[in-house]
Amino acid sequence: MKIATVVGARPQFIKAGPLSRAIRSAHEERWIHTGQHYDEAMSGVFFRELGLPEPDYRLEVGSAPHGAQTGRMLEGIESILKDDKPDAVLVYGDTNSTLAGSLAAAKLSIPVVHVESGLRSFNKAMPEEINRVLTDHLSAVLFCPTDVAVTNLKREGIDNRVHLVGDIMYDAVLEYSARAKEHSDVLERVGLAPGSYCLATIHRAENTDSAANMTNILEAFGKLDRLVLLPLHPRTLGYIRRWGLESMLGHPNLITCAPLSYLNMLRATSEAFAVLTDSGGLQKEAYMLKVPCLTIRRETEWIETVQAGWNRLAEANAHAIISEYGKLGKPRRHPRLFGDGRAAARMVQVMERYFSKS
Ligand code: UD1
Repeated sequence: MKIATVVGARPQFIKAGPLSRAIRSAHEERWIHTGQHYDEAMSGVFFRELGLPEPDYRLEVGSAPHGAQTGRMLEGIESILKDDKPDAVLVYGDTNSTLAGSLAAAKLSIPVVHVESGLRSFNKAMPEEINRVLTDHLSAVLFCPTDVAVTNLKREGIDNRVHLVGDIMYDAVLEYSARAKEHSDVLERVGLAPGSYCLATIHRAENTDSAANMTNILEAFGKLDRLVLLPLHPRTLGYIRRWGLESMLGHPNLITCAPLSYLNMLRATSEAFAVLTDSGGLQKEAYMLKVPCLTIRRETEWIETVQAGWNRLAEANAHAIISEYGKLGKPRRHPRLFGDGRAAARMVQVMERYFSKS
């Protein structure tokens, strides 16, 4: 079996690590890095820290408006696939790299395998929602992390080729947690004691691209009763500058830093009092590490974490954020929502059934 894996953005490097190792133990794999993320802190550090394979192809597409970025990736991936002729193309999540990979493959009649399939926010204003819906409908094999994801696909008429395998991010959390504890000195470097702070990340367009939302979020962080550690995605920093809000970063309650590596994020998450975020992945990681989460969005794809009482939603309004933050706590029950940490092995078995030529 020969698999072409398309990665491009930070969360995809993390998810692709465990599955790549499982694939390569018995099969051939090529990595195509679109270059959607290209900074050292957004890409290079993940490859080194997680021991990821050196990409076989680098498209170096970089940043551009959605259509241009996706279009450049599509052209580059198509030409690679035509030469390389894999049995299947593997894509992760919901980024522009995901859509470009699945579209290029589907147009060449190469089966698409989608990891993290079936997630829905039901908000078409999010670029990610468009990417994930289209990718699911182009896919030949759909790997769902949760029951909710399976149900979402069923509602859209997709009920064969769907496999509930658990969440690949849980494989990564289990694999790297001990190493993060041992090797990460992030808390010592910023002078934070375990349990004394909140870890915050904001990078979604719906928040960053609105001056009012960013003002409300930073104002709320400044008023919380704990310090807030805020690693800044380049997109977020760019918009903070554009909206003239740099002075709000100087609030004594805020500790800002450059984007953190995966091991540093795992350590900073696991020792936080709470996570405050608009990221999809971090909501799950907080749950997996038994840390309460406040999601600064109107809806979430990971609704089961809200139902379990570990995640609360707050729109980007200072009053709502402070009020919902005040209700965070650790429920007694912590149901196993994301499988058993063996998603990678299961996915390889399924792919072998579909694609092994022997
Ligand atoms: C993308 C994904 C989002 C995912 C996130 C993970 C889409 C539509 N969005 O959002 O779903 O949660 O990745 O981090 O695919 N930039 C840099 N250096 C980099 C990369 C980006 O400076 O290495 C800056 C550029 O100004 C760029 C902006 O960040 O325009 C946004 O980057 P982009 O890849 O378009 O989207 P993300 O916000 O990272």
